Amino acid sequence: MTDYDLTATAQALVAPGKGILAADESVATISKRFAALGITSTAESRRAYRDVLLTAPDLASYISGAILYDETIRQGLPDGTPFPDVLHKSGILPGIKVDTGAKALAGAPGETITEGLDGLRERIAEYIGLGARFAKWRAVIRIGDGLPSRTCIATNAHALARYAALCQEGGLVPIVEPEVLMDGAHTIERCFEVTGQTLRAVFGELADQGVVLEEMVLKPNMVIAGKGASRQTGVEEVAETTLRCLLRTVPAAVPGIAFLSGGQSPELATEHLNAMSGMGPMPWALTFSYGRALQDPSLAAWKGEAANVEAAQSALLHRARCNGAARSSTYSAAMEAEAA
Ligand code: 13P
Repeated sequence: MTDYDLTATAQALVAPGKGILAADESVATISKRFAALGITSTAESRRAYRDVLLTAPDLASYISGAILYDETIRQGLPDGTPFPDVLHKSGILPGIKVDTGAKALAGAPGETITEGLDGLRERIAEYIGLGARFAKWRAVIRIGDGLPSRTCIATNAHALARYAALCQEGGLVPIVEPEVLMDGAHTIERCFEVTGQTLRAVFGELADQGVVLEEMVLKPNMVIAGKGASRQTGVEEVAETTLRCLLRTVPAAVPGIAFLSGGQSPELATEHLNAMSGMGPMPWALTFSYGRALQDPSLAAWKGEAANVEAAQSALLHRARCNGAARSSTYSAAMEAEAA
């Protein structure tokens, strides 16, 4: 057990005007994103890309923490400075993805269970030694014909709580991420129902397993219609429905809720957060922990070329600044126009 004050760390992660940069794609996932843009994926190209993101000037004005992958937390600048040191020096908390991925769930066709509990106590100790202050574990819930099953929700909620308890025992703030996917043609009403069921199961398990709510951050999906739904939802409707769901299921002791972007466009993810921030005081801070919605424009600008580093960094900064503004509901289309 370390002496880190987990409550203070959780509060720092959700500090006003800032959010979390999720840059924890596994080698397989980042390689897929690279391939789509014709960028070759090697340990060095992945290092170079994370170097671009993590050294973006002024990033700490809008970013409180950055989630890294196992490979990245062991990499660093060309001069040998490890990335966690780079982050600490700039005032950004380093985080680490500790799950080992979503694998087929036995007896539940089409569904997954997130793995990574074996040896987790030891890995947490190692990651703390490497500079990590918080962790992430992502559970995946798919909506479909007869899905999700009770088994899928129950097993994933149980694993999330085991992970969170181990993190707090070892000295890391757990980001608890149950993601109800946007894939499919389901309605926003169905997403509301499944997200509610999932969050009730997760907070039940967290309570059963003694997880301290003040020392964690929740990372949920927004409540939104499936990508293939015939009726797509408006910004106000997503914001209102998401808050209604969270108010019914998330205890006030949780310091903050940091949304994932889940496949929304960067601008829409910002608009949704902006709308929720304007809907009056909530029991918890509302913030962002976006992956694609922060990185996509930056990766597209970089294209794997040193000549594009500045453009890639300003693209990241721009999204971070827009989302920072969305925290106080001061984001506007004018901010996009200014940057264009
Ligand atoms: P997206 O914002 O791209 O959904 O990624 C967030 C994340 O960390 C998924 O685990």
